[in-house]
Amino acid sequence: MRIGVITIFPELFTTFLDTSLVGRAVTKGLLDVQVHDLRSFTDDRHRSVDDEPYGGGGGMVMTAPPWIRAVEELSGSRKPRRILLSPQGPALTDAKVRALAEEEELLLLCGRYEAIDERAIELVVDEEISIGDYVLSGGELPAMVLVEALSRQIPGVVGLPESVEQDSFRSGLLDHCHFTRPPEVNGLKVPTVLLSGNHAAIESWRGVQAVRATVEKRPDLLPKLRPEQLSAVQWRELENLGRSTEVGGQEASPSSVVATQTRDTE
Ligand SMILES: C[S@@+](CC[C@H](N)C(=O)[O-])C[C@H]1O[C@@H](n2cnc3c(N)ncnc32)[C@H](O)[C@@H]1O
Repeated sequence: MRIGVITIFPELFTTFLDTSLVGRAVTKGLLDVQVHDLRSFTDDRHRSVDDEPYGGGGGMVMTAPPWIRAVEELSGSRKPRRILLSPQGPALTDAKVRALAEEEELLLLCGRYEAIDERAIELVVDEEISIGDYVLSGGELPAMVLVEALSRQIPGVVGLPESVEQDSFRSGLLDHCHFTRPPEVNGLKVPTVLLSGNHAAIESWRGVQAVRATVEKRPDLLPKLRPEQLSAVQWRELENLGRSTEVGGQEASPSSVVATQTRDTE
């Protein structure tokens, strides 16, 4: 996957692109990230990218021409999807990350100051994406969030593809809890099932833990779940917790539950 980034602080990306899974993806050629300095697309001596707002008020506004020039020059004839990181866009989700991972090329625009001149947004931005309902000082961290999330979707970046599939949200639930050595920490023991070597029992236990974690930490996910995303064991756990009626897209249809029960025993 190819990703271009436009920013006035390209140096912020140096360590990020050299480190951990993203660094490895770049080194292996699975991910190509090119970071461009917006100031290289200015045409004045001071390489200025901002000016006072029309209408007055506080803060500086990023001028449109450098953005338009940068996006047009960097896009060439390839037509990458052009995304402005902005608190005003819809919040990034796992589904959105997966959809964007299908694109061949993205161009990420990192704003700074009070805003970018609206005409640049109208002319050279395809969509806005937010990383949450709070305001940062620039789009660089949100761009890194998006690049890192995308990198996990590229085959070969995460060692075990199953671990991406088992991550939170992918199945509609949160991930189950995890344990490693030592077997006891301050009197707290590892659940015995995890030491049993019984893979079916471990899978079933993990499925139940995923349901419990979701009910406890993110009950807002339940209405978005479909019954067929749950195994029979998970469905039973939801019923035991008195939460099965919150599962969305269901008429608590016995056929869907029977279908999942059948799948479970296969
Ligand atoms: C100080 S913010 C501008 C906020 C703007 N005045 C507003 O209230 O909508 C400067 C830049 O940071 C980035 N930014 C800030 N918060 C963000 C968020 N939650 N998600 C994505 N980008 C964000 C955007 O690129 C934005 O142009």
